[in-house]
Amino acid sequence: MTIFPVSAQSRFAENYPEVAHTLKHGLDSHPLLDLEALADLSGKLPLDSIECNRGDQPIGVDGVPEQFREQAAETILNIEKAGFWVCLRNVEQQPEYAELLEQLLAEMRPRIEPKTGRMLNLQCFLFATSPGGVTPYHFDPEHNILLQVRGSKVMTVFPAGDTACAADEIHEAYHRGGRPELPWREDMAQRGTPFAIGPGEAVYVPVMAPHYVTNGAEVSVSISITWRSEWSYAESDARCFNAWVRQMGLTPKAPARWPHQNRAKAYGWRAMRKLRRAAG
Ligand SMILES: [Fe+2]
Repeated sequence: MTIFPVSAQSRFAENYPEVAHTLKHGLDSHPLLDLEALADLSGKLPLDSIECNRGDQPIGVDGVPEQFREQAAETILNIEKAGFWVCLRNVEQQPEYAELLEQLLAEMRPRIEPKTGRMLNLQCFLFATSPGGVTPYHFDPEHNILLQVRGSKVMTVFPAGDTACAADEIHEAYHRGGRPELPWREDMAQRGTPFAIGPGEAVYVPVMAPHYVTNGAEVSVSISITWRSEWSYAESDARCFNAWVRQMGLTPKAPARWPHQNRAKAYGWRAMRKLRRAAG
């Protein structure tokens, strides 16, 4: 079975890895992706692989959201009325979902690896969201294709390297172990591009491109397939290097976006990390 038609694969190849865009897919239903399957899956995952959040959050949140992980299965089955969004993380821990992830990414692999090299750390996330639920403004370190399976949502994506959307210091704090949620100001709204997707449509989100999600008027189910690349790890390590430079009272230059590789700072940080570990 082909999930991404050839036209979608070509569109993806033209835009990957830096340009957010929508693409078609054929995964409009799947026995592993209905609400009963998700509820069942939530009972098999460790609690730290579950996020269970209130759906009535503002676009910008401060601090760590309250979690209701123990209620995930019940919340998923009652998602129509629950007023929540549930994220099941790293569902590839279960063999049948690992197989699904592999199948989905296998079609894109020939479009991805010629550009950003070997696909690393493949992960899969599932989302069940109540009508009108909001996922607040944040960024993620992975290359990400979010496929809509049921219901609709609008993913509003902001430019990855724009310091008006997320300051360099915030990037640096995140890569040193900080939270992904980002401060939000209404004057940033005009910098975002909304991508509306329904069943059979997906959106690609570049590495560290800030985004928030607003759900449509129905229950939504989506699946996110993600991977890292040596480029994304180098960008992350260059941010860590910059955090160290900033601690010394200097103002470092932000890592350049792809196709620049940021190798000097990344290798510098990796060497420092090794030395620190060796020093105990
Ligand atoms: Fe995200």
